[in-house]
Amino acid sequence: MEPDPDPVSTPEAAHKSPALAQAVAAPLTRAAIFLVATLNPGSENCATLRTFCKDLAALVRAVEFRDLEGGLSCVVGFGFEAWDRLFGQPRPAELHTFREIRSGSRHAVSTPGDLLFHIRAKRMDLSFELATQIMARIGNAVSPVDEVHGFRYFDERDLMGFVDGTENPRGAAAAAAVVVDDEDADFAGGSYVIVQKYLHDLVAWNALSTEAQERIIGRTKLSDIELDDSVKPTSAHSALTTIVENGKEIKILRDNMPFGRPGHGEFGTYFIGYSRSPRPIEQMLENMFVGRPPGNYDRLLDFSRAVTGNLFFVPSATFLENVTENQTTEDEPVVAEPAASPAAAPTPSVPPVRDGSLGIGSLKGDIPHE
Ligand code: HEM
Repeated sequence: MEPDPDPVSTPEAAHKSPALAQAVAAPLTRAAIFLVATLNPGSENCATLRTFCKDLAALVRAVEFRDLEGGLSCVVGFGFEAWDRLFGQPRPAELHTFREIRSGSRHAVSTPGDLLFHIRAKRMDLSFELATQIMARIGNAVSPVDEVHGFRYFDERDLMGFVDGTENPRGAAAAAAVVVDDEDADFAGGSYVIVQKYLHDLVAWNALSTEAQERIIGRTKLSDIELDDSVKPTSAHSALTTIVENGKEIKILRDNMPFGRPGHGEFGTYFIGYSRSPRPIEQMLENMFVGRPPGNYDRLLDFSRAVTGNLFFVPSATFLENVTENQTTEDEPVVAEPAASPAAAPTPSVPPVRDGSLGIGSLKGDIPHE
C-alpha cells in the first residue's frame, strides 16, 4: 500500500493552523516516570505503534480525568532508527543517534532506545497508572530498556543537595527555547530531547566541604544564589552549561528528577533536557565532559557517572493525531548515519564550534578534542 501523505508535512499543511506542541513545557511536578523502550522487529509492531500514536491523547485524557488537579502529562519521543521504521521520510532535520563522548575517565554513553515516555504528575499514582495503560497497549510491540521513577526532593533539590532547575526559561521564553519553528517547517511544533541517567558517588560528594561543592555547581547550596564571577570557577557546572551565541544566551528546558534505592546504595539524577535543536545540549555535554577549553571539565563528573544516553524527537501533538496505521512500511531501509557509529567516530562528533557559534541549522563539521 502506498504510504499516506503525512498531513503535517504536506505543503498545504504549512498554511493550516499551527501544529500544537506536546506537553513539553508542562510545569515541574512532584513525580515523573521516564520509560525508554526499543521497538521490536516486525511490521506488525510498527503498525501497533502508529495506531497507538493516534490514541495516546485519549488515553492521557482518560487517566487525567480521574484527578483533574493532578497535572498529568505525557510526552512521547522517537529515536533516529525508530523514526524511519515508523514514519519513513521526511525525518526531522536534526534527528540522529545520541553521540557518545569520551574524554579522560569521563564517558557520555550512547545506549539503545527507540521510544521515550516522559510522564509527569503531582501524584505518582497517576503517572504509574498512565505508564501501566500505555504498556497494556504497546507492551508486546516494545522491549523496555530503562524505567526510572523520579521524585521531587525537598526544595526542588537533586540528591547532591542543590536546587536544580532555577535557571530554566519560563512562559514564552520556554516555548521559544524548545519548540521547532520555521527552521524545519515540516516538523514545526516538535522538540528534541536528550536524556541521561546519572549515578552519584554521594559518599565522596558529601566528604567535600559545602564551599567546594558550591564551586563545582556555581551556586550557593542553601540559598541557591549564583556565585559571583570573581569566585565562580570557569569549570563550574553552571558556567560550562551557559552557552552564548551572538550575545544571546541559548536556553534549554530541564526537568531533572532524583531517583534511587538507598538499600542498594543507588542515588541518581535523571537528566532530561528539551530544546528546539539538539545542538545546544550537545555543546553543553561537550563542555562538561571534554571541557571548555578542553581539560577544564565539569567536576560534577568526578562524582557522577552517566549510565544511559539518548536523543529523541518529540513530534507535535498534531503530528501524532494524524499518524495513520499504514503510513509507511518497515521494508524501507533505515539509512545508517555514519557519524553516529562509535567505531567510525571514536572521538565525540559535535557540530563546529571553532568560532564559538553553535551554527544552529548547519550541522556539518567536527571539532578537535584532547
Ligand atoms: C549529574 C547530573 C546533573 C545535575 C545533578 C545537575 C544539577 C544542576 C544544578 C544544581 C544546577 C543549578 C541550578 C539551575 O539553574 O538549575 C544546574 C544548572 C544547569 N544545568 Fe545541570 N545538572 C546535571 C546535568 C546537566 C546536563 C547533562 C546538562 C546539559 C547537557 C545540564 C544543563 C544545565 C543548565 C543549562 C543549567 C543552567 C545554567 C545557568 O544558566 O546558570 N545539567 N544543573
